Amino acid sequence: MQQLYLLYVLCLVLSHATVCKIASAQPPAGYISWSPRNMNRTKLFCPIGCNYENDPEECCLCQARECWEIDPYSCSLALRVLHVEYTDINGTSRVLQIGSTVNETIYVLKHTDGYLTTFPTNLNEYRDIVKMDLSRNRIKQIAKLSFLNVLSVLVLDENLVTYISNDTFIGLMRLRQVSLAQNLIRYIEPSSFFTSEFSIFYVNISMNKLTDIDATLSMPLNEFCNIDVSKNNLANMINPTAYSFNKSEIHGPGKIFLDHNSLNFPNCTALGVSDWTDFGEYAQYNYELKPQTQLTCDCIIFYYFDKIKLSNLRRIWTDFDTLECSSPEHLAGKQLTTLYDEGNYDIFICNITIDCPRHCHCYDQPSRSNVVVDCEGKGLTNLPEGPLPVGFWGNQRLELRMKNNSITKIGATDYIDRIVSMDLTGNAISFIEDSAATAMRNDIELNLPDNKLQALPSHFIYLDPNKINTGNNVFLCSCEIVWIENWQYKLLGNKTGYLCSHNGKVMPVSEISLNLQCKMKNEDLFAKIIPASLVSIGICLLLLIVCLHFRFEIRIILARVSSRMSQAKIHNPKVFISLDESQEEIPLWVKNDVYPCLCRWGLITCIPCRNFLPGYRQETAYKSAIRECKAYIVILSKKYNQQDVSSTLEEENSTTNWTKTEFSYIWDECFNSGQTKLLIVVNFEQLRPGHFKDRRLRALCRVGNVLDFRQREEKMLTRIKNMLNISQQYQQPLQDSLSIVSCDEISDTVSERTTLVRRNEHRKNSFIRNSVVPMRLEAESIPMFEVTRRYPNPKADCVANTFFRPS
Ligand SMILES: *[C@@H]1O[C@H](CO)[C@@H](O)[C@H](O)[C@H]1NC(C)=O
Ligand SMILES: *[C@@H]1O[C@H](CO)[C@@H](O)[C@H](O)[C@H]1NC(C)=O
Ligand SMILES: *[C@@H]1O[C@H](CO)[C@@H](O)[C@H](O)[C@H]1NC(C)=O
Ligand SMILES: *[C@@H]1O[C@H](CO)[C@@H](O)[C@H](O)[C@H]1NC(C)=O
Ligand SMILES: *[C@@H]1O[C@H](CO)[C@@H](O)[C@H](O)[C@H]1NC(C)=O
Ligand SMILES: *[C@@H]1O[C@H](CO)[C@@H](O)[C@H](O)[C@H]1NC(C)=O
Ligand SMILES: *[C@@H]1O[C@H](CO)[C@@H](O)[C@H](O)[C@H]1NC(C)=O
Ligand SMILES: *[C@@H]1O[C@H](CO)[C@@H](O)[C@H](O)[C@H]1NC(C)=O
Ligand SMILES: *[C@@H]1O[C@H](CO)[C@@H](O)[C@H](O)[C@H]1NC(C)=O
Ligand SMILES: *[C@@H]1O[C@H](CO)[C@@H](O)[C@H](O)[C@H]1NC(C)=O
Repeated sequence: MQQLYLLYVLCLVLSHATVCKIASAQPPAGYISWSPRNMNRTKLFCPIGCNYENDPEECCLCQARECWEIDPYSCSLALRVLHVEYTDINGTSRVLQIGSTVNETIYVLKHTDGYLTTFPTNLNEYRDIVKMDLSRNRIKQIAKLSFLNVLSVLVLDENLVTYISNDTFIGLMRLRQVSLAQNLIRYIEPSSFFTSEFSIFYVNISMNKLTDIDATLSMPLNEFCNIDVSKNNLANMINPTAYSFNKSEIHGPGKIFLDHNSLNFPNCTALGVSDWTDFGEYAQYNYELKPQTQLTCDCIIFYYFDKIKLSNLRRIWTDFDTLECSSPEHLAGKQLTTLYDEGNYDIFICNITIDCPRHCHCYDQPSRSNVVVDCEGKGLTNLPEGPLPVGFWGNQRLELRMKNNSITKIGATDYIDRIVSMDLTGNAISFIEDSAATAMRNDIELNLPDNKLQALPSHFIYLDPNKINTGNNVFLCSCEIVWIENWQYKLLGNKTGYLCSHNGKVMPVSEISLNLQCKMKNEDLFAKIIPASLVSIGICLLLLIVCLHFRFEIRIILARVSSRMSQAKIHNPKVFISLDESQEEIPLWVKNDVYPCLCRWGLITCIPCRNFLPGYRQETAYKSAIRECKAYIVILSKKYNQQDVSSTLEEENSTTNWTKTEFSYIWDECFNSGQTKLLIVVNFEQLRPGHFKDRRLRALCRVGNVLDFRQREEKMLTRIKNMLNISQQYQQPLQDSLSIVSCDEISDTVSERTTLVRRNEHRKNSFIRNSVVPMRLEAESIPMFEVTRRYPNPKADCVANTFFRPS
């Protein structure tokens, strides 16, 4: 600065009150143009030497100058020094100019060691003041200066200024340096020195009366060279405007002098830092604390040690390595780095007085995330009454230290669910209330040695036995505590089990059930019964569903089993044949093969004939006929008992419907009548169960007496005969009308071949994929005339003329 003044003087002398003027806007030699990050400041020049520094930005912040400070002559500026004249004895004044104004003139106003009480009254006539030094006057208030829009330096040291408001420096876009050292400042409004619009690089507020420093001044977003707040009475860092630290931006850099105060490390959360780690990373400040009258090493220190890396701590607190605690007592004189290295962070605590029970000591211990309530040896006879204190950041976790008291029981309290750890060693506890046990956290740590416990509440079965320490306590043997037997198996390591005494004899808890013959407690029983019954209910449900689904199959199988078991075997029964007549081959087969043979075997046969008796009350007749019969042959074909909407609409009395009714009667007779009946199913077209919509038919196909033409060993009629259990003596001679010689010799070929032919025709949409075809027959190789020859009447005909004609 001295050199600069010499320069001005030199300039003035050289020009002798004429203008120093050289037409050049180039940066002065040895400087480069520079403007701070995020700031719209032009006309600043930084020494080239800064480029070689570790941090050029930091260097420029402190060393950048305006042109007039370097060499007014080279900037074609005329620099004039202004003086003041007093206008009254009260310290009012005016600016006085010697010589005339010329273009491009800038002024320095300097009046130190005077009696000014206010700023000169005609200041607004000299708007081009770049520097004002009014040190050592009696100014009490900083006037509105916003019209001085080129002011760079404002020095008001040793005046009587008491406060600074947030509009004091508004409009002073070029202001770079403010010095207010040795004033009486008690209050600085937030955002007075640093806003997004202007940025002051030097702020000197040392030797004032500040007690608080707010976050906008102690951790500004802006860059600066230094802020000197040393030698005040600072005790608190505050954040009245809820300033928040923007963690996506670098804050600073800059040096902040906080020495000769009584500040503690601030609570970063309160200063708007949500994550302390961010503070370590994004705060590029250097705080200087030392020398410091007092530094309290309380719980806040823990967060700095825990969250911020040592290297960052050293960068932020430049003198971190030499900082010492002055309180609390047991830490006085200890260096922070020593404490950091020792790693015992349990010593960093903050006392809490709110809600702390009388005589007890309560503190927040962040290293364990607990609020400790310490009432050791205070002669308490009960657990303290609530409420108990809540820690910082709303921490609810309680650690109760209650050693060496006379507490007799653990009862329910309003804080019992907040306890994470409780030491009750050396009390007189004889029981723990159930309600208290139920309210406890499952991970509670309980120390209960040297008490008089007779039992543990059974709810403890949900707690971790490794966290419950009862020392050498001997319980009273009783069936109430038999659960401990299983519980203690969870004990880890070489901890021994629990003991109890019975009639003066001490034994392990595991022998209670042996010696006292305890019954299983209901609870245990339930614990075993409920899952078991759930499983069995599940199985039952499953079975029920399966049964419902396969009820017809089950019916059929049961009927078959019971008929096999029963003595009353069916012999030579009366037979009812149920068939769908719309398919030609089936009536033919029945008429020419089945019916004659049944007759020959001497069986009475009923075959419904519908075509001939319209209007007849057939249903009743069927019903009684079906009831009379003891055996039924159901010949399955594609349309048998199939509800086909189109055909039902067209022909109401279609055979399909008849087979439906018929089949229902037969089913009822076989499975619902209670009599033993025989049901033979001939799967004429080798249909699969899935073909039928009727679930009873499906079931029959699956598990019924199903015959089809694939079974080659015996002829179809022979098989039917076997099933019908026909005795030889019933064989009757053939009637004339029936031209079959021997039923045993009738071959299956007709039906077989026709089916084969049909199958070949329908091969494309074949639904029988896995049916066993005896040999591959080409359609042409089957002589169709054979059918015609054997059955001259191709039209499906009724076998008997009367409705039910017994043979
Ligand atoms: C930055 O400078 C430009 C041009 O000089 C001006 O228009 C703008 O208002 C300035 N912005 C701020 C925030 O001062
Ligand atoms: C100077 O101050 C005194 C008391 O404060 C006052 O009475 C007097 O009028 C003031 N003089 C002027 C010229 O303002
Ligand atoms: C000062 O500047 C004004 C215009 O800006 C001009 O008219 C005047 O001549 C200049 N005076 C001198 C002494 O250069
Ligand atoms: C200055 O402070 C007042 C309240 O004291 C506030 O209303 C105003 O917004 C502040 N101005 C700025 C620029 O922060
Ligand atoms: C602030 O002003 C005081 C008093 O003038 C001085 O001792 C101190 O060095 C200044 N601080 C800075 C950082 O220049
Ligand atoms: C933080 O900074 C980012 C980037 O500059 C900005 O977009 C965001 O609005 C800022 N957040 C706050 C809360 O100021
Ligand atoms: C907390 O209280 C204890 C005892 O009440 C005291 O010894 C200690 O100094 C206090 N600590 C702080 C940081 O106030
Ligand atoms: C227990 O507390 C009593 C006061 O209640 C005290 O006199 C005694 O020394 C304490 N004993 C232990 C072992 O702390
Ligand atoms: C720090 O500040 C936060 C937010 O104000 C508060 O919740 C917390 O309790 C404070 N911690 C301490 C130790 O004062
Ligand atoms: C077992 O007990 C002994 C003596 O009480 C102790 O020193 C040792 O550490 C224990 N071992 C384990 C695994 O707990």
